[in-house]
Amino acid sequence: MTAHVALTLVDELGLDRGQAEDIRRLLAACFPDWDYPRHRRYFKQLPARRLLAREDGRLLGQLGLEHRAIGTATGPATILGTIDLCVAPDARGRGVASRLLDRVEQLGSAGGVEFLVLFATDRRLYERHGYRHADNPLRWLRIDEHASLGIGEEAVDELMVKPLTARAWPEGQVDLLGYLF
Ligand SMILES: CC(C)(COP(=O)(O)OP(=O)(O)OC[C@H]1O[C@@H](n2cnc3c(N)ncnc32)[C@H](O)[C@@H]1OP(=O)(O)O)[C@@H](O)C(=O)NCCC(=O)NCCS
Repeated sequence: MTAHVALTLVDELGLDRGQAEDIRRLLAACFPDWDYPRHRRYFKQLPARRLLAREDGRLLGQLGLEHRAIGTATGPATILGTIDLCVAPDARGRGVASRLLDRVEQLGSAGGVEFLVLFATDRRLYERHGYRHADNPLRWLRIDEHASLGIGEEAVDELMVKPLTARAWPEGQVDLLGYLF
């Protein structure tokens, strides 16, 4: 059902105004109940890259990608994070999000990334794709409306992880070395 859906990896810096506006509109339509800022295309911070799903030129889905080194009890680790995955309400249930998640995994594997990471309250889709909840205490940079508020230190119920190599996700504190996406 997604045969005509094309996925593209885009650099945020290369988005033209039309693409940027399409992303802003999609996020506003997909997160109506959150306090998602209506006038911009990110919640806390601009992602460096996104994956876009289009059908006949129309933007159906998107996610932001966060490629990062983090600190763990067993040394540094590389992660690829998924941010604000969403699919237009009238295009849901056709596997578009699944295609996007599969592509994230391909990109992570090809790039030698050790772990896929995301934060989600509803775990269904992600568990189906092999992500598991992890309960590590986290450290991260707290950001609110373009202001740094200090360092957060606690476990976050939404944390989900999928290892891409033989290395197991470490126990103990994880330092995200940046904001919680
Ligand atoms: C979650 C979302 C991206 C799924 O997109 P999709 O293209 O319909 O996903 P797929 O077709 O690949 O898979 C559908 C499955 O996702 C699961 N799912 C549905 N809503 C979900 C949600 N909000 N979070 C996690 N999983 C969800 C269900 O198991 C569903 O299968 P089912 O209908 O047979 O039960 C889409 O519902 C959406 O944009 N929701 C609003 C934004 C959102 O909550 N994003 C997640 C932020 S973490």
